[in-house]
Amino acid sequence: MEKKNIDWGNLGFGYQQTDYRFVSNYKNGAWDEGTLTTDANIVINECAGVLQYAQTVFEGMKAYTTEDGRTVVFRPDLNAERFENSARRLEMPVYDKDRFVEAVKKTVKANEAYVPPFGTGATLYIRPYMFGSSPVIGVKPAEEYQFRILTTPVGPYFKGGIKPLTIRVSDFDRAAPHGTGHIKAGLNYAMSLHAIVTAHEEGYDENMYLDAASRTYVEETGGANFLFVTKDGTVVTPKSNSILPSITRRSLMYVAEHYLGLKAEEREIPIEEVREFAECGLCGTAAVISPVGRVDYKGEQIVFPSGMSEMGPITRKLYETLTGIQMGRIEAPEGWLVEI
Ligand code: PLP
Ligand code: COI
Repeated sequence: MEKKNIDWGNLGFGYQQTDYRFVSNYKNGAWDEGTLTTDANIVINECAGVLQYAQTVFEGMKAYTTEDGRTVVFRPDLNAERFENSARRLEMPVYDKDRFVEAVKKTVKANEAYVPPFGTGATLYIRPYMFGSSPVIGVKPAEEYQFRILTTPVGPYFKGGIKPLTIRVSDFDRAAPHGTGHIKAGLNYAMSLHAIVTAHEEGYDENMYLDAASRTYVEETGGANFLFVTKDGTVVTPKSNSILPSITRRSLMYVAEHYLGLKAEEREIPIEEVREFAECGLCGTAAVISPVGRVDYKGEQIVFPSGMSEMGPITRKLYETLTGIQMGRIEAPEGWLVEI
């Protein structure tokens, strides 16, 4: 397979059009077969549910080239499951999980020339999404939907690669209790845009959101979950019903326990405890694990002992083990890598 002539090593996290995308339409209560198309544009009615009332959900995962030259996708079954939960919460039709995985495989296969070669640090980002396509004007679910999968080759989400980030505790809330924080709905990201733009203007890389009800506990950022490491080497991650159940975080907690022999805990984390931790990182498909060096909270600068120039030692081990599994250098648990 001849790869495209792309400067893989210098890719950022941006959209670059690839050759094929998957499209399937839902009409009269059923999904059609779906097909690959070369048309990257969508024509929908001016009153489509997605345009008027933000009825859209999405997913994110990656395809990798392994050391021995295979193309693999990381745990797409979990994305399929989360996509189903997201759709149900927004009164959208479910896209069958097995068909979701098949459609992902088909789309990656068609765009294999864009899957970055092993060792370049880049990956093929896969973005399945669904939206209400038929007109609605009263507030109600659309009757027709479109499911699509686009792919785009990407580099690191944060500029500077693995340089520790500086973040702030946001004055804005991301997700209400009993709201939509636990699903991957476009609306959660639209409402985070003002917070991220102002964070960037003030020199921060990201926002740390606290729980909206009490503003006491750590939740997540706009696009990643948190991992902390205690001074005695336990990996800790926030437990909350209003954060996205990150597949990367669930995988890292498994890696911590089963590959690195560490203690791993999912529990409520008071913001007041953050200054006690030795290391902090953001984890997600796009973020992989991005180390955090400093958190600003109510005028205080909390600098982790791991500092502002290096990833902390346990964060690094987690990073190396997870990426080693994803790139086929370290044996993966059963079912984690789906070969194309
Ligand atoms: N939290 C939010 C808000 C996200 O958008 C993402 C990205 O998908 C994550 C966490 C990380 O989830 P995952 O590891 O499944 O990509
Ligand atoms: C992902 O990690 O897949 C996401 O959707 C996060 C987004 C902020 C790019």
